[in-house]
Parts: sequence; structure tokens; C-alpha cells
Amino acid sequence: MKKISYNLIIIALLCIFGCNKKENNNQPQKENMENLQVSDYGVTAKGDSIKKYTLTNKNGMKVEVINFGGIITSLTAPDKNGKYEDVVLGFTKPEDYFNGNPYYFGALIGRYGNRIANAKFTLEGKTYDIDKNDGPNTLHGGKEGFHTKFWNIEPVKDAKFPTLKLTYTSADGEEGYPGKLSTTVLYTLTDDNALEIAYEATTDKATVVNLTQHSYFNLSGNFTKTITDHELQINADKFLPVNETLIPIGEQKSVKGSPFDFTISKPIGKDINADDDQLKKGKGYDHNWILSGSGMRSIAKVYHPKSGRVMEVLTDEPGVQFYSGNFLDGKFDTKTGGKNEFRTGFCLETQHFPDSPNQASFPSTELKQGQKYQTKTIYKFSVKK
Ligand code: BGC
Repeated sequence: MKKISYNLIIIALLCIFGCNKKENNNQPQKENMENLQVSDYGVTAKGDSIKKYTLTNKNGMKVEVINFGGIITSLTAPDKNGKYEDVVLGFTKPEDYFNGNPYYFGALIGRYGNRIANAKFTLEGKTYDIDKNDGPNTLHGGKEGFHTKFWNIEPVKDAKFPTLKLTYTSADGEEGYPGKLSTTVLYTLTDDNALEIAYEATTDKATVVNLTQHSYFNLSGNFTKTITDHELQINADKFLPVNETLIPIGEQKSVKGSPFDFTISKPIGKDINADDDQLKKGKGYDHNWILSGSGMRSIAKVYHPKSGRVMEVLTDEPGVQFYSGNFLDGKFDTKTGGKNEFRTGFCLETQHFPDSPNQASFPSTELKQGQKYQTKTIYKFSVKK
């Protein structure tokens, strides 16, 4: 009898030891799963059931992403007192994302971020007519860009930090673009409070690609406040002047001595109302800056003095569209009350230059069969006291 119970104790101990060991091996996966919540978000008119994925890092910073448009609906960042608040604009009702999202709040943009003049381009001797949705031009892909598409989302189980993998396949001919484009975007929330966005794409036929993210930031944590008090620095000596329809005219202009000079940090509102032809054309800042250097590098910093929040942007892209929210028009409620008024958010959309398919002097946005499109952008949050 004694011998049996002794054996049982040994077996029990072995089992406990074995179970623990198994749990330890699985720890990264378990931790990642703890840092991911999935909930129902809404149903689109097409009947797609939309889910919301919430990633949380070890500091409690959160990013919320939906599988409609790969949209970031919320992103929190700490202020100088350690208070985490939402710093990205968004709608209060899911259907406002589903029924058009006229401002492209938080969305993944494709197949071509920014504008293509006269909604056409020529590739390998063939002219392609694409969707016209912005006067004579194409903006952010076309009428139904990637921001309106259903993206497949799955958590990356063995990643170091909580990561979501989003995939979307754009059919050959969609919105007039040639080639079936297979797109993957990884959203990673690191423990140093950075949101990393890694884009990849392949095609079965030559096409053009320029993917970006269209989050509007307001580091005050109060979306009724304008962003003109945010201090911005951009590592760029030149920008691209535009025509009346916001297409670059081809010139690469020095920022020196102009309202476009952000080489030294200054409040966004400092020169925004200057008597300047380019500012009039954009109704404020809505231009592409030609970023200094190449490869992955820090390209811009934004500081909100009152909250102490700082956002640094790093990318391997040659350009950034700095857009000061000039078309926000107070038609929708904000998540912190009030309406989404003029200049209550700004975008720093990292990308290749607008209209590159029609401008031979710009870095190429062409992707051929067998090539891999790969680019990365990081929005990193910290505080300055
Ligand atoms: C463009 C703006 C446009 C906005 C859409 C920005 O990327 O540069 O001109 O109005 O997107 O909300």
C-alpha cells in the first residue's frame, strides 16, 4: 500500500514538472495571445462581419485595428504624467468607416497612395486608365481603394512583440491597375512604444505600388483641439510644389526661407497662414517633402508641449506627405466629443512621391513580376518633460 502511494507521488511530481516545462516552452505564444483581444466590431452593407483586434504592450499602450481597410481605430500614447490617451482621429460609429470614410481615417492606402495625374499612366508601352475620384486625378488608389477592402487578419504567434498580419489580394484590373497584387502588412506594437508597419507586395504582371498609412494624429488627446500648437521637425531640405489639383509640377524646391522649412522644429501653425501661393493651393500644408538620406532613418519628430507627448517617424521611403487636416470639415463627432473641425489632426504619410508613374525624374514606383515591394515605417512615442 505504502509503495503504491509513493509511486503515485513520484508520478504526480513528474507530471507537474512536465506540465510546467511545456508551459515555459510556450511562453512567448501565451504572452502574445494575452496581448491580443478580438471582439465584434460591426457588419458592412456587403455582409462582411468586421472584427476589432486590440494589441497591448507591456506598458499598457494599445492599438486597435479592424479588418475593414486595415484601419487603426485607436492608438494610445503616454503623456508626461504617464497617462495613456487615444492620439488618432476616428469615427464614433462603425458604419462611418464602412460607408466611405471620406477622410481616410486610420486606413491602409493602396494600390497607390496619393495622387496620379489625370487618372492615367503608361507602363511598358501600354496606357492604363484608372478610377478618377479627385477632380481629374486619382487619389489613394481610386473610388474603392484598399481602405474599403476586407483584409484578412491573423496574429503572428511566434513574434517577439504583439503583431498582426494583414493580407489582401487586389485582382488584375481592379480600379484599372494591371497585375494581381498580393499585399501583406504587419502591424507590431513594441515595448518601447513604437508602432511598426511593414509592407510587402508581389505582382504577377508589371504594375505601380505606393502603400501608406493614413492615421491622423492629435497628440493632445483631445480631438476638438487644433494641431497648430504641435511642434514639427522634418529632415528635408526640399519639397514638391504642386498645381491647383495638388499634382507635383516636377520642380524640387528648397524649403529655405519659406513656410515649408521644418528643418528646425517649429509650431505647425507658425507659418501656416502665410501669404504663400503653395499654402493657398493646399489650403495649408498638403505637400510631399523630399526626405534627406536613404534607408531606414528618423525623418520627422512632433512634440506637443502641453502634454509632453513626442512622436518620432522613421522610414525607408524617399518622401512624406505632411497634411495638416485642411479638409476636415466638422461633419462628424469625434471620440472625445465635439466635431472633427478644420486642422484637428495631421498626417505624416510616408511614401514615394505623388504622380511618380507620370514623372520620370521621381524614384520609380513600378513593381515587376518576380520583384518584392518592401517598405517599413515606425511611429515611436515618448515624452519630453
Ligand atoms: C491628401 C489630401 C487629402 C487627404 C484625404 C491626403 O493624403 O494629401 O489632399 O484630402 O489625404 O483626406
